[in-house]
Amino acid sequence: MKLALFASGTGSNARSLVRAAREQRLEAEFVLIVCDRPRAPVLAFAEEEGIPVFAFSPKEYENKAAFETEIVKELYAKGVERIVLAGYMRLIGDTLLTEYGGRMINVHPSLLPAFPGKDAIRQAWDAGVKVTGVTVHYVDEGMDTGSIIAQEPLYVKETDSFETLTAGIQAVEHRLYPEIVQQWIARPLKTVQTNTEGANHS
Ligand code: GRF
Repeated sequence: MKLALFASGTGSNARSLVRAAREQRLEAEFVLIVCDRPRAPVLAFAEEEGIPVFAFSPKEYENKAAFETEIVKELYAKGVERIVLAGYMRLIGDTLLTEYGGRMINVHPSLLPAFPGKDAIRQAWDAGVKVTGVTVHYVDEGMDTGSIIAQEPLYVKETDSFETLTAGIQAVEHRLYPEIVQQWIARPLKTVQTNTEGANHS
């Protein structure tokens, strides 16, 4: 299946997803990386891998609809069937939701609905929670509000620092996200089994 990856950060999840595809744990071809920060480190990775990129500065467009219209053109040109977000730090607007709504998922470094938005690991650390984790969820118009596909908890140990917790969360993301993306693309849309037996999102 042809996937686009929306990523604007360091790209560690992009690496784990592309590696999974190379090792055939993920039956996907990443045909486009969409990035809203033209200097993001993930772009160097895209170049190394020879993955086409659409990188843009939002401020150069009149509004969200204008740059999302360009993104949609790129997605169609590459035959993208579904979209995987990993560190795209921008709310998805109507233009993309109209074309790809229900076909976009995201990974978030907390147990949603706790700690949505930016710096979720820091938010959880500062709140002193004893259990946090990783969520994979559908993308809707809200900030990390789409229906939940999968979650994995991670216990905060007495000996943890913010840095070790961050490393632990990243390790979970890098293992969990490729697994869930594979389940998601192997099944019809919006019927991925959650951890709750028998539950699904339709
Ligand atoms: C990850 O923590 C992901 O959960 C969140 O953004 C971060 C992206 O990190 N949505 P990276 O660029 O993949 O390292």
